[in-house]
Amino acid sequence: MAAKPVAQRAKRLVVLVSGSGTNLQALIDGIAAAGVEAYGAEIVAVGADRDGIEGLARAERAGLPVFVRRVRDHGTREEWDAALAEAVARHEPDLVVSAGFMKIVGKEFLARFGGRFVNTHPALLPSFPGAHGVRDALAYGARVTGCTVHFVDDGVDTGPIIAQGVVEVRDEDYEDEGAALHERIKEVERKLLVDVVGRLARNGYRIEGRKVVIQ
Ligand code: GRF
Repeated sequence: MAAKPVAQRAKRLVVLVSGSGTNLQALIDGIAAAGVEAYGAEIVAVGADRDGIEGLARAERAGLPVFVRRVRDHGTREEWDAALAEAVARHEPDLVVSAGFMKIVGKEFLARFGGRFVNTHPALLPSFPGAHGVRDALAYGARVTGCTVHFVDDGVDTGPIIAQGVVEVRDEDYEDEGAALHERIKEVERKLLVDVVGRLARNGYRIEGRKVVIQ
């Protein structure tokens, strides 16, 4: 007789934000629409590196616990990094998602969460890493750009790629310094992030060098 499949525990997600939090909102809505069990994961807390942002307001409206660790409240960058890692660890996450979190984490954070820390970036890596991925792609004259969901390593947007989405650049994108282009990228990015996080949570994965295999 075939063994009954064992129901898997929903994975615990901590999401980190620095801004408007529309990627966070997509996760909140995607999980609510599917149901935690079917999606395979739930958000257990939202963290930020600054106060007063819409991303935190979105978390609060959804009834999620929030925490803030600001660099300037710590003596050194290393102390901030350790404090952030501790705050995240308290929620015992299976995966940590950087959804528009505009800080580079340090050694301590990566020692604790490396291999389960996912970031979304608004360009097709390895092109245009860093804080201005949209602007840099336009300035270079790229005709296509997009977004990349990847694991975080100790470089800037250099970790193993999980999935990418492509967005065409239009001539009129030069008129507003990429604001409309970034919005079109974010539409693709939000769907990709919700899809990828759910698949990682439900199926499990392994990282083989630069290749991510979702089982
Ligand atoms: C996203 O495009 C993300 O890739 C970038 O900043 C944006 C965050 O948007 N780093 P939001 O805060 O999720 O609306």
